[in-house]
Amino acid sequence: MSDALLKVERLNAGYGEMAVLRDITLEIQRGEIVALVGSNGAGKTTLLRALSRVIPSTGRITFAGRVLDGLTPDQVFGLRLVQVPEGRQLFDQMSVEENLLMGSYRRADRARIAADLERVYRLFPTLKERHRQLAGSLSGGEQQMCAIARGLMGAPELLMVDEMSLGLAPVIVDLLLDTLAEIRREGVTVLLVEQDIFSAFHVADRGYVLETGRIVRVGSASELAEDPEVRRAYLGI
Ligand SMILES: Nc1ncnc2c1ncn2[C@@H]1O[C@H](COP(=O)(O)OP(=O)(O)OP(=O)(O)O)[C@@H](O)[C@H]1O
Ligand SMILES: [Mg+2]
Repeated sequence: MSDALLKVERLNAGYGEMAVLRDITLEIQRGEIVALVGSNGAGKTTLLRALSRVIPSTGRITFAGRVLDGLTPDQVFGLRLVQVPEGRQLFDQMSVEENLLMGSYRRADRARIAADLERVYRLFPTLKERHRQLAGSLSGGEQQMCAIARGLMGAPELLMVDEMSLGLAPVIVDLLLDTLAEIRREGVTVLLVEQDIFSAFHVADRGYVLETGRIVRVGSASELAEDPEVRRAYLGI
């Protein structure tokens, strides 16, 4: 038996009659950072939605030894597969700390929740300074920190981060990438979904390239970053 944390076999998904993802097969081992890259509309977010069971799919998804196909999004979240959504999706009218605590709503272990709050404040000191500020009034970079921190409050085994770098200055993206590396050192496995392949391959161990709903390349991050076709398609060089 494979001991992959996440195993996806021949997954197909779409919206109504429209097929988006075709025969997706991938694996993530515990402790890896895996990048999923692809251009606009390739199906990256759709794949995360299928993994979180927000949309149905065929094929098979196994996470930490459990088959997810029949589960609800809430049950999947309870298994510690946590998605940080594209566009951050914070509760603008709630404080930073209230947003963070929303990330732990499914947990009953009060002492651990308090310890995790301290942990995310250590990772993101800016959030600690601003814990009473309304999330809607944070800068874009701070909002992304808050979204990642809220994800961590779900005590994820696998954290899936969708388009982390979108709209952010390079210096903030670098800081967030460093934080992801630290999160991984603390034992969290990461699936990083990006259009920005430079960012993604900088921090990832391995990567998958998605093109119009199919995986067209798999390899180590350094191999993919050097792959002439990947460079042509995504960097125009
Ligand atoms: N709710 C929806 N209903 C119908 N079609 C959708 C829906 N969401 C996405 N799609 C379509 O599915 C395809 C894949 O979209 P998806 O959002 O997964 O792409 P993506 O790779 O995440 O793109 P981006 O990099 O722009 O975020 C697109 O053609 C899109 O128009
Ligand atoms: Mg997307």
